[in-house]
Amino acid sequence: MNTINWFERLNHTLETYQKDKHIDPHRLQYHLMPAVGLLNDPNGLIQYKGTYHVFFQWNPFGTVHGAKCWGHCTSQDLIYWQEHPPSLVPSEWYERDGCFSGSAVEVDGDMVLFYSGNVGHDNNILETYQCMAVSHNGFIFEKKGPVVLLPEGYTSHFRDPKVWKRDGVWYMVIGAQTFSQEGAVVLFASSDLKEWELKGTLAGNRINGLIDFGYMWECPDFFELDGNDVLIVSPQGLEAKESFYHNVFQSGYFVGKWNVGTTEFPHGEFIELDRGFDFYAPQTFHDQLGRRIMLGWMGMTDEQETHQPTIEKGWVHALTIPREIELKNNRIIQKPVQELQKLREENGFQCRTSIEDETKTWPELAGTVSEIKACFHENQADTIKIEIRKNLSIVYIQHMKRLTLERKRFIDGKIESRSCFLDKLEDLHIFLDTSSIELFVNGGEEVFTARFFAEATDVDVFITADGRVDATLEKWNLRNPKEL
Ligand code: FRU
Repeated sequence: MNTINWFERLNHTLETYQKDKHIDPHRLQYHLMPAVGLLNDPNGLIQYKGTYHVFFQWNPFGTVHGAKCWGHCTSQDLIYWQEHPPSLVPSEWYERDGCFSGSAVEVDGDMVLFYSGNVGHDNNILETYQCMAVSHNGFIFEKKGPVVLLPEGYTSHFRDPKVWKRDGVWYMVIGAQTFSQEGAVVLFASSDLKEWELKGTLAGNRINGLIDFGYMWECPDFFELDGNDVLIVSPQGLEAKESFYHNVFQSGYFVGKWNVGTTEFPHGEFIELDRGFDFYAPQTFHDQLGRRIMLGWMGMTDEQETHQPTIEKGWVHALTIPREIELKNNRIIQKPVQELQKLREENGFQCRTSIEDETKTWPELAGTVSEIKACFHENQADTIKIEIRKNLSIVYIQHMKRLTLERKRFIDGKIESRSCFLDKLEDLHIFLDTSSIELFVNGGEEVFTARFFAEATDVDVFITADGRVDATLEKWNLRNPKEL
């Protein structure tokens, strides 16, 4: 399809959507999500000429995975997002079946995007091209076509270029699958962004002691953080073990020291970034305040994807809130960016309380779009349970040191859970939007992200303790950024 036809079709879809638009209690308020269609990975995150740009994988024509374009939003403050026409739509032979994931860099005042051109054939055969597009203003892009072709040794599951500059040289990492069906990250280098030299495999199965570590690694991101080098990747094909890897696909990271310019990257173990149900394909960028900020896809291509109730309203999925990441003792700590405090309504609720062998609730804790902080001072309770909107429970069992998030499955309403282990429960920081939770535990040492679909009238939050716990509770209703 050429670009003009594509945009005509998009306008028609958006107009139909506006006509049909009715109250949808699950539409998120402060999360980035599309008007209509399916969103997946965040792409091309960058602060360019002072403005934050977020692109995302988007199929505007259905709530299924299809020929993706790059949706586009900008913000001055990471809070209020303005929508723009898609920046890349599949119009050329090398991207016929989708402008897949990638990244953005600034070069001499231009914004340059790198993405995977996807071409599919009937017999499940794919072609993949790593492509470049250039813009003088960050909105209108001129496609330059493929700059990297599939090298030998890898299958056509080879995509999601992330580009950055270090010591005057451009580098690109790509998510890959080797011919022996093993996940890997492949490194390239360039002096001009057009000619790319293959360096080799930077990380993957059977490297640095990894065994049986998935059949494909998607969406790599590689950057310096607090004096170390961090490789984020989304492996597919990990088997669940203990409390880890219970989702169909994972996202996590390795911390190590890169011998810059080479494929030597001795690193530590793989650590999952999120312990909830809905988090995948995160990407980071460095902003002008010196922060490393990460957004992820608050979704997953799992068996529940097609059961999300928003599908009947014509949309599915959203991005997470922006999170600032830091490295502490070789582990990533995630914190909601401080700009989110602008959403807090005045007159937040605060109380210091003891809960002892009882269930307590406060009318002020109720709500559908809110931020709740619970700080535990003295915890003699064996179990602390926070129930939210009759759909979610956060349960900490002290003698097991186990924290669990439970939610109702979208398919049949049965309870499902994800857990992690903590030495001690110190605090919980919860962001609720109409149909999502992001739970930051102990200052962001662990994070759980999940979608849930409660009745609009179920707004209460209950706290139960088995034994005695002393806590400080804080809560703010959050404003809709469009009304700020
Ligand atoms: C990850 C992913 C990427 C790909 C994109 C297509 O969710 O599969 O590897 O580029 O989605 O939308």
